[in-house]
Amino acid sequence: MKNLIKIRFSHRLIGLIFLIIIVSCIGSYIQMYVSKDSFGLVPLPMSLDVMEGTFKINSETVILTDNNSPRVQEIGFYLNEYLSSSYQLSLRIKDSNAEKTLAGTISLTLGNNMEGLGDEGYELIIHKNHVSLKANTPAGLFYGVQTIIQLLNPQANSIDGLCLPSLKIVDRPRYSWRGMHLDVCRHFFPKEFIKKYIDLIAMHKMNTFHWHLTEDQGWRIEIKKYPNLTEIGAWRKETLIGHSKEKPQKFDGIPHGGFYTQEEIREIVKYARERFVTIVPEIELPGHATAALAAYPEFSCTGGPFEVETTWGIKKDVYCPGMEETFTFLENVLTEVIDLFPAPYIHIGGDECPKDRWRECDHCQARIKQEGLKDEDELQSYFIKRIERFLSSKNKRLVGWDEILEGGLAPNSTVMSWRGIAGGIAASRKGHDVVMTPTSHCYFDYYQAKGGEPLAIGGFLPLKKVYSFEPTPVELEPEQAKHILGAQGNVWTEYIARPEHVEYMALPRMSAMAEVLWSPKEKRHFKDFQKRMRIHYRRLDQMDVNYHAPKKPV
Ligand code: ACM
Ligand code: ZN
Repeated sequence: MKNLIKIRFSHRLIGLIFLIIIVSCIGSYIQMYVSKDSFGLVPLPMSLDVMEGTFKINSETVILTDNNSPRVQEIGFYLNEYLSSSYQLSLRIKDSNAEKTLAGTISLTLGNNMEGLGDEGYELIIHKNHVSLKANTPAGLFYGVQTIIQLLNPQANSIDGLCLPSLKIVDRPRYSWRGMHLDVCRHFFPKEFIKKYIDLIAMHKMNTFHWHLTEDQGWRIEIKKYPNLTEIGAWRKETLIGHSKEKPQKFDGIPHGGFYTQEEIREIVKYARERFVTIVPEIELPGHATAALAAYPEFSCTGGPFEVETTWGIKKDVYCPGMEETFTFLENVLTEVIDLFPAPYIHIGGDECPKDRWRECDHCQARIKQEGLKDEDELQSYFIKRIERFLSSKNKRLVGWDEILEGGLAPNSTVMSWRGIAGGIAASRKGHDVVMTPTSHCYFDYYQAKGGEPLAIGGFLPLKKVYSFEPTPVELEPEQAKHILGAQGNVWTEYIARPEHVEYMALPRMSAMAEVLWSPKEKRHFKDFQKRMRIHYRRLDQMDVNYHAPKKPV
């Protein structure tokens, strides 16, 4: 009898323990998905106050926009398009000037000098009966819409239907240059993937896409005046297999290539503009130019012939700055590029340019003498300064990798500091704008985990390290620190041949970089970020993104 009671008691105890475990699991599940303090928002907003209740979105909900502002109307259409494609819910869009009642509406309003919001901030108040989104600029409204989309997304399958939690968010970015780079030359990626990449940039409230369009291994942009750039320069006969350190070298024997027509580029620029993403095209000079020289060897020091490169690394044959014809060619190319990209910036590369050929070239040596230059470093500086003058004459600003510091910086140039942050510090001290992108924290082609990863170029850059990045060096005085525009993540693609692999390398490191660049420094905590990322991964799932997650092979 005693034993029977004991067994019954222990059954009850086990049952109770199970119940506690189940309840606490459900609790943490709910906590995870409807966490009242952040709703899994990435990047974390500047301030967020939760209120009671929810705003329900249904087919009666109306989006209010100002008919006098086409840009605001476009944002209304963008939100509606998102709702209809993701949730089969198509709302009415009405003119806020004609509509008297706010009940049941999501209103998008451009304010006038709303304090604390700056150029890209927004204020979002979700009441139980209406949603008010205000900003000083269309860009601010767009970021507010991104927040609305994120608030919807993790809860969209809840039994409550489509609803937004009542809250007040006041938000603005910490930096103005929030960028992602993509090398489409080492491997070519189709237009549709470029659009997806831009969507990912936009969903993270980033605003710059640095499009690396020319390289030794492929020229990817149609230039009408020089058709061989794409007829010859866009194609290589084969590609190295394995890491470039492996010897003997092996090749796949498969031709690789592709390029974007000007029409496709205009389409992508428009797509990016609708998402408040500025595209900064990169046309590499004086180095990383073999594909162009394979097409037009007359602009090299030796006259060629050359083939589009099939291996990675730094190549010796570069543009010849001794000949006027080289500058005419580059200016003609840049004229077409400028015509395609409305961005204020053109990136001209400037990195990793060996000077061997210049030392042996009569034209280059004559140029050095004639211009009173000290050496080949100053010849590179002469090259960049001439290009800068040309870009300035077209109202464009030059951006270049930090090698453009060598031999003297061109006036008005912006420096992208990649070999550490020293170049960025030096440039900002000289009064130049800087974008920080040191290999240590910003090279998303590096390994992100130990073991079991697909072949990568090398290095080790786990998510936590990206998250710990501080773009503004402590040693800068406040006046100098103002020149740090922001930072960006770089995706070089020597070892990345497919779009899913780009996604795997870029995400979630892009999410971490977005938070570094958007959220207040003092609010950033890696553990909290990881918690929010659990919700954010669901958003990436919804977009069919092949992100790197623990135990998720590419
Ligand atoms: C670079 O990674 N060569 C800018
Ligand atoms: Zn030369």
